[in-house]
Amino acid sequence: MKFDTKVVRSGIHPDPTTGSIVPPIYETATYVLPGVGQDKGFDYTRSSNPTRQILENNLAAIENAKYAVSFASGMAAVDACLKLLKAGDHVVCGDDVYGGVTRHFDNVLSAYGIEFTYVDTTDIASVKSALKNNTRLLWIETPTNPLLKITDINAMVAIAQTNEILLGVDSTFATPVFLRPLEFGADIVMHSTTKYLSGHNQIIGGVLATNSDSIYQKMKYIQKTIGAVSSPFDCWLNLSGLKTLHLRMRQHETAAMQVAQFLQSHPKVSMVLYPGLESHPQHKIATEQMTGFSGMITFELNDGTEAGKKLMNSVQLCGLAESLGSVETMITHPASMTHVDVPPQDRRRRGLTDGLVRLSVGIEDVEDIIQDLEQGLSRI
Ligand SMILES: Cc1ncc(COP(=O)(O)O)c(C=O)c1O
Repeated sequence: MKFDTKVVRSGIHPDPTTGSIVPPIYETATYVLPGVGQDKGFDYTRSSNPTRQILENNLAAIENAKYAVSFASGMAAVDACLKLLKAGDHVVCGDDVYGGVTRHFDNVLSAYGIEFTYVDTTDIASVKSALKNNTRLLWIETPTNPLLKITDINAMVAIAQTNEILLGVDSTFATPVFLRPLEFGADIVMHSTTKYLSGHNQIIGGVLATNSDSIYQKMKYIQKTIGAVSSPFDCWLNLSGLKTLHLRMRQHETAAMQVAQFLQSHPKVSMVLYPGLESHPQHKIATEQMTGFSGMITFELNDGTEAGKKLMNSVQLCGLAESLGSVETMITHPASMTHVDVPPQDRRRRGLTDGLVRLSVGIEDVEDIIQDLEQGLSRI
């Protein structure tokens, strides 16, 4: 089955009782068992639910994975992944990851004896030198949030395999339309389905996908034991959104390229980061390992923070919002919003300046998006 067909159809069959083409929302906590010691595949919704199972099957198919496990949020998925480790284990993590991830690692998991080292994963030598005897996991985001750094997945797979550690890839920004890390040999891929995979700003969700039987068994065990599961209604909304993923992503990308070129030529903009631009530091790797560059752009204005704030308060079509990856264009100030819990000195060391603006280009008419940015920039 070709990718676009998988997106629309994989794992989704007419409902056996009615023939309904759209899967029902099995909004139930429990299931009446036919007899003691018997079930029809379901007993309690924390363990499994038919609507969630359909979503998991669809997500696994489009990620080209054997298994997918759905969670109540991207962060719950990250947490479940880290629960594969134990006290005394060490993790090498990309230095430019979503602020909530570093908050979880440094302020929650560290207290349970897991140790973290942050490195620029675009620098292969730094990753190698950060490894320790107790390193168990290499965790990368590509493209990263918010600097859109691209990490060479082949190089990370080689490091992980040589050192017999797990490689986890947060592929939220790329989506399976443009990148499927398991095909490179990664052990686990993670998405915040809140973003492109649902695509309509309606739900909070997350997913982990893998080809490993043992990792899957552990993830299922953690999912049912901890219970950070996505609700049947959220799974249903996610399934609806997923059906147009391939179309949305191509539109996000086409529009983002035009917006990135507009910003690059604007006199008030000092720097534009978009993996599709030749000026992007890892443009070559992006071209080699991704089939598209997605819809996220990060830029900086000549007059820094104050100018950024003015722009964000002046735009009308672009919504000032924390999130990304939806049909609506959204603009964010990482230093005060998504990455506010990263200590200022760490933000500066990472190159995450206070003047940085992150733009999630939606699927409105690109001329309207550019016109809105133009009028916003004219007020600075
Ligand atoms: C790259 C990335 N990973 C993980 C997350 C966390 O996902 P969620 O907000 O669904 O918990 C986010 C949220 O913005 C993100 O941008």
